[in-house]
Amino acid sequence: MQKIVIAIDGYSGTGKSSTAKQVATRLGYTYIDSGAMYRAVTYFFLQNGIDFSDVNQVNANLDQCSITFDGSSILLNGENVDHQIRTMEVNQYVSKVSAISEVRHKLVEQQRKMGEKKGVVMDGRDIGTVVFPKAELKVFMTADMEVRAERRRKELVKKGMNEDLEVIKANLKERDRIDSTRADSPLRKADDAKEIDTSHLTLNQQIDKIVEMAESIIYEG
Ligand code: DC
Repeated sequence: MQKIVIAIDGYSGTGKSSTAKQVATRLGYTYIDSGAMYRAVTYFFLQNGIDFSDVNQVNANLDQCSITFDGSSILLNGENVDHQIRTMEVNQYVSKVSAISEVRHKLVEQQRKMGEKKGVVMDGRDIGTVVFPKAELKVFMTADMEVRAERRRKELVKKGMNEDLEVIKANLKERDRIDSTRADSPLRKADDAKEIDTSHLTLNQQIDKIVEMAESIIYEG
C-alpha cells in the first residue's frame, strides 16, 4: 500500500493540531507538529535572553538548539518542553521568531528529512506551499474568529491557565497578521489544497473528512 504525505495548514485555533494528530493515529502515520518546533526555538531564545532582532545572535544560538520528538512530546536539547512552549509569553513572540529566515531554513530542512519516507501528517503554515509542495494531500483549515478564540481559551483552561477572551482574540489576530504578511513563506492556501471550514464541525467530523480524502488517494491512487 502506498504511503502519502498529508500537509495541513491554516490559522491558529482552527483545530489543525488535534485533527492532524488523530488523522495520523487512524492511518498509522507519524504526526509532526511543526508549530511546536517554532515554539521550542522561541522558548529557547526567551530563556536565554537572545535578542532575536539581532541576526548575529540568532545565528550564533540556533546551533545550540536541538529539537527532537519523542512520540508526541517535543524535546529541546533533550528536555521535554510540551508545557513550556504553550504559555501566553511564547504565544506572544512565536510569530516574530518564525518570521526569521534563518530559523525557518533550519526547521524546514529538518521537517523535510522527517517526511522523506512518507507516512506523515504535518501541520503548520507553510507545509503545503514550502515544506512539501508535492504532498499527495493538502488541506487548508479555516474557522470564524469567535470559534477559534473560544477553542484556544478552553485549551489554556485545560492547562490551568485562565486568559481573557479579548486578550486571546487580539493575540490570534496579531499572529494572523504577522504569519500572513511575513516576507518568508507567508501563510497562504496552496492552489491545490482542499479548504475545510471547521466553524461548525466537531473534531470527529474534521478527522473523518480528512481520513476519507486520504484513503481515497491511498487506495485509489
Ligand atoms: O500552530 P501553532 O499555533 O502552534 O504555531 C505557532 C507559530 O509558529 C505560528 O504563529 C506561526 C509559526 N509557524 C510557522 O511559521 N510555520 C509553521 N509551519 C508552523 C508554525
